[in-house]
Amino acid sequence: MTVRRIVQLGEPILRQKAKKVHRVDDSIRHLIDDMIETMIDAPGSGLAAPQVNVPLRVIVTHVDDELRVVVNPEIVDASEEMEEGYEGCLSMPGWTGPVDRTIQITVRGLSNSGKPIKIKSEGWEARAFQHEVDHLNGIMFIDRIDDKSKLHRVETEAEEEELEEQQVFA
Ligand code: NI
Repeated sequence: MTVRRIVQLGEPILRQKAKKVHRVDDSIRHLIDDMIETMIDAPGSGLAAPQVNVPLRVIVTHVDDELRVVVNPEIVDASEEMEEGYEGCLSMPGWTGPVDRTIQITVRGLSNSGKPIKIKSEGWEARAFQHEVDHLNGIMFIDRIDDKSKLHRVETEAEEEELEEQQVFA
């Protein structure tokens, strides 16, 4: 497993729509392993393949010690109820801001062995899934903050540590 470089805002791949994976083979599993390593090293609560410069629909999340891998994720059965919560992005470190997200979702896709999976999720993990699926569609969390004055610069290390528990950084 290798820690890969995380693509930063301004690089075009972050604004492109990622392509569907046609077959979950060893090269995809290798990508997944590297994404997990990169996410944990950062540390972050999620990562999408375009963030390691691969234009494919693959995401990983790590919230409350639960590691998830979804190939070709699709959000189905989203609850109508929304909640505001803070997010930051590994492709835009040093910034945080409040984003409205659906509280409960069901994600469908493929596992790392290519089998269909369905995950019911809520709260921070559901938020991480929505943040990552956005990345696959070229959307950044800042695009979902209409009032840009709500974007906040993380100034100190202490502030960063405090935020770790209270935001999705992915
Ligand atoms: Ni992100």
